Amino acid sequence: MKALILAGGLGSRLRPFSHSMPKQLIPIANKPVLVHVVEALRDLGATEIGVVVGDRSGKIEGALGSGARFGVRLTYIPQEAPRGLAHAVAIARPFLGDDDFVMYLGDNMLTDGVQDIARDFVIRRPAAQIVVHKVAHPSEFGVAEVDAEGRVLRLVEKPREPCGDLAVIGVYFFTAAIHAAVDAIRPSARGELEITDAIQWLVERGEDVRARVYEGFWRDTGRVEDVLECNSELLKDLVPSVRGEVDADSELIGAVVVEPGARIVRSRLVGPVIVGAGSVIEDSGVGPCTTIGQDCEVRSSVIEHSLVLDGAQVVGVGSVRGSVIGRQATVTAGGVPGWHRLLVGDHASVEVAA
Ligand code: TTP
Repeated sequence: MKALILAGGLGSRLRPFSHSMPKQLIPIANKPVLVHVVEALRDLGATEIGVVVGDRSGKIEGALGSGARFGVRLTYIPQEAPRGLAHAVAIARPFLGDDDFVMYLGDNMLTDGVQDIARDFVIRRPAAQIVVHKVAHPSEFGVAEVDAEGRVLRLVEKPREPCGDLAVIGVYFFTAAIHAAVDAIRPSARGELEITDAIQWLVERGEDVRARVYEGFWRDTGRVEDVLECNSELLKDLVPSVRGEVDADSELIGAVVVEPGARIVRSRLVGPVIVGAGSVIEDSGVGPCTTIGQDCEVRSSVIEHSLVLDGAQVVGVGSVRGSVIGRQATVTAGGVPGWHRLLVGDHASVEVAA
């Protein structure tokens, strides 16, 4: 089975981070989301993988290369504009041929894997098999109405009236039957070729469309809150290892990773915590659920439940929580007591205690 990763799109919900990097490269537990996705597909046995890329293709190709590092072969497929998930399937047709394939949205994390669901598809080969997940607020998602045997009866986009709680999430299995559907549909009101419309087209023609429930942890990492939750979830399985320097006045509690070249000085780290290569933590408290990228500085600060990206500095700031600090960004104390001085980039968001 081939695989198709969708890594184009705008990423507008992840601004300001997506201004300078494709959202699929945001690191979760110090590894870009897209690397987690490629590894998940490799673990399903898919080694021929197409990657649909938009105007940030250079950065994505720079991060993934040929795929050899992950034991897969990557083919990059440029999409001139984000015209929808079904449009991505259409432009990938020369790569896909008539093969069965799994389509994986490049910003989705299903941390418990979909091995069983993939096996079902390979054995039964319905025209399409979607993956659904029980959610508390179905009206925010595409929802599948499914019968007792798992056959999809209808897909409804952001339903106003309740029609079940099974949201369609970012992994789909298709036979070549999807291509006729993609060719038949027209752009939606928002001007995109919607994959839900293509699947609904198959349902209406009486094709066998199945849904399988995924019960593990799932997040679409399109928003900052979800990135942070996903980071915390992945850190739960962190295996402690100290390959950097930790001085005698520091204390490491729980699962802490200190990568080579990192230095921990007079600090208290409460796991799960990762401190990336070359970073310095001094006179600080870090964790739990915090990832510090490479070459960062955290001095005289307390930071927990946060993500600090490569090259960022947090200095003299008493309490940072639930935060994402972008690459090379600085958060420092200073200036006039009682006043905040903020140099905040476009689409950024800052919350200060009143
Ligand atoms: P979305 O998150 O639905 O779209 P987006 O990236 O434009 O995000 P936002 O709403 O924040 O602006 O896309 C899901 C995944 O599919 C994501 O990895 C981007 C990718 N994608 C494409 O590759 N091509 C497309 O035409 C679209 C719409 C999305």
